[in-house]
Amino acid sequence: MAFIGIDLGTTTSEVAVYRDGAPRVLSDVQGNTIVDSKVGIDPADRKLKVGNVVSDFVKHDPENGVSEIKRRMGDDVTIELGGENYSPAELSSMILTHLKESAEERLGEEVEQCVITVPANFPDPARRATRQAGEIAGMTVERIINEPTAAALAYGYDEDVDGEHVMVYDLGGGTFDVSIVEQVGPVLDVKASAGDPHLGGKDFDRALLDHVLDRLRREHGVEGIEEGTGAWHALLGKCEAAKKTLSACERATVDYTLTESVEIERSTFEDLIAPMVDKTEDAIDVALTEADLEKEDIDRVILVGGSTRIPYVQRLVERGMGQAPRSGVDPDKAVALGAAAQTAIIEGTSDQIIMDVSAQSFGTAIVDARTGQTGVYDEIIPANGKYQKEYTETYGTLYEDQKTIEFRVYQRESMADAERAEVGGEPNDGFTRLAKRVVDMPGPPGQELEATYTYTQDGTIDIRLYVPRTDEEVAFETRAEVDEEQIERSRAKVESAWKDSTYLDDVEPLMDAARRELESGDLSVEKQQEVETLMRRMKDALAAEDEAAVRQLEEELTDLLFELDL
Ligand SMILES: Nc1ncnc2c1ncn2[C@@H]1O[C@H](COP(=O)(O)OP(=O)(O)OP(=O)(O)O)[C@@H](O)[C@H]1O
Ligand SMILES: [Mg+2]
Repeated sequence: MAFIGIDLGTTTSEVAVYRDGAPRVLSDVQGNTIVDSKVGIDPADRKLKVGNVVSDFVKHDPENGVSEIKRRMGDDVTIELGGENYSPAELSSMILTHLKESAEERLGEEVEQCVITVPANFPDPARRATRQAGEIAGMTVERIINEPTAAALAYGYDEDVDGEHVMVYDLGGGTFDVSIVEQVGPVLDVKASAGDPHLGGKDFDRALLDHVLDRLRREHGVEGIEEGTGAWHALLGKCEAAKKTLSACERATVDYTLTESVEIERSTFEDLIAPMVDKTEDAIDVALTEADLEKEDIDRVILVGGSTRIPYVQRLVERGMGQAPRSGVDPDKAVALGAAAQTAIIEGTSDQIIMDVSAQSFGTAIVDARTGQTGVYDEIIPANGKYQKEYTETYGTLYEDQKTIEFRVYQRESMADAERAEVGGEPNDGFTRLAKRVVDMPGPPGQELEATYTYTQDGTIDIRLYVPRTDEEVAFETRAEVDEEQIERSRAKVESAWKDSTYLDDVEPLMDAARRELESGDLSVEKQQEVETLMRRMKDALAAEDEAAVRQLEEELTDLLFELDL
């Protein structure tokens, strides 16, 4: 039985294992150690695939694939792929399954447990969704840990950092974190963490693309490259490649066609990203202030994440911190290595102790009794509060006829500007609503409601509500909690997508014809539903390898399509 560590990234993912006293990264079944975080339906055989092979066929047909799923984790959305709607957790579970199966092949044993990393700035619902994704993939998720903390842990395997303050600057594809840790003997003490959950290399690609589109129009008269089309995606890919070239060279060319291309100077690219990258300096300041340290107190700065290869980023960090950053561990693999190191801690083969913090604060939206203003953020757990600590707060009713308290829990990003959690009843910028619950409050004004918040080791919070007057515990669930049954349903759905049914080849042309009928838009609502129902039942029969049912449905669907064609 193996226990693996996974860095589930916005653009790339890695899997590692702890063996013979050290963590090491494993390559996937396609032979890549850095695995593209993409899921797609291969048009050649209509099978679901994961990883670097997806990048190839998605280039020509963006409809066939999904990327950047991590940016949607915890959102209440579904994403369509191959005619089926999936939650972000379900799609992420496919990436995790791929990594799990790769590890099983490399290690020659089954993988049962895992640790998955998330950005330090990941909100509670996104963390819970990550845990669900691991469970849908059939693993026991022993812990969700913060990426910069994992990187610091991995760094400690190669270098002696005892007694030092280390700053981890992690700029990846989709998120930015900066953490300050202190290593004291076996204890890795996270002093503070800050950052932006929506900043990364993907944003630089988009900025460069906008610039290129503008230049193509002005210099070559190229118009009408619509967002989301194949041409647009292809150009975005070329912009990312040019961005990487610019990390090593002074200029790069983005070719649209053989004769229509745009040359980019490194300085032009730097001007484009400066407004975004410069903001990371504010996060460094916040982290230093929160840790109660001066920049001179930082003994070393380590860079993690692919976007730290950009010279402008390296210069900014060097200038801001007054020292050259080091890149001891591989910036692409540090996080996965740290996740594997964490597995050893949980198993007890390593004597390290990690004391982590939450980059975000937690609180409730209240009515200010003095000003009457609503939606005011009342912080309960400050940012950079330590994990596994309990905080209790008491609320009271205000008016004579108040029979309820509406209890709304929020999480606030470390760099959020706004002070109010809600505006017009909706979450304000930088705030994530975790829960909303109306609690009955019988009795005269001043009745109390006690709320106890606990940081879990996953960086999520558990909340317990209690009404002292009635001595009652109030059942309470945060937004992203799901039951075992839902995990089971998701697992069945995702597994059915994976299944290589023996009968699929027989009925595929029929299913394609049915799909075309649906897409034609000529069907009445009633007929449309008939086709959809048969298709769904067919998918279930295929997944169950139920030959009799497949044959029966094959007949019914053939008849129906024949009737529609008349
Ligand atoms: N040489 C390079 N120059 C500039 N950017 C690079 C270079 N190499 C990789 N990148 C960028 O780094 C990003 C990927 O980094 P990484 O794999 O660390 O991120 P991730 O783990 O997928 O994302 P996150 O940690 O934010 O979820 C991509 O945006 C990629 O374009
Ligand atoms: Mg990463």
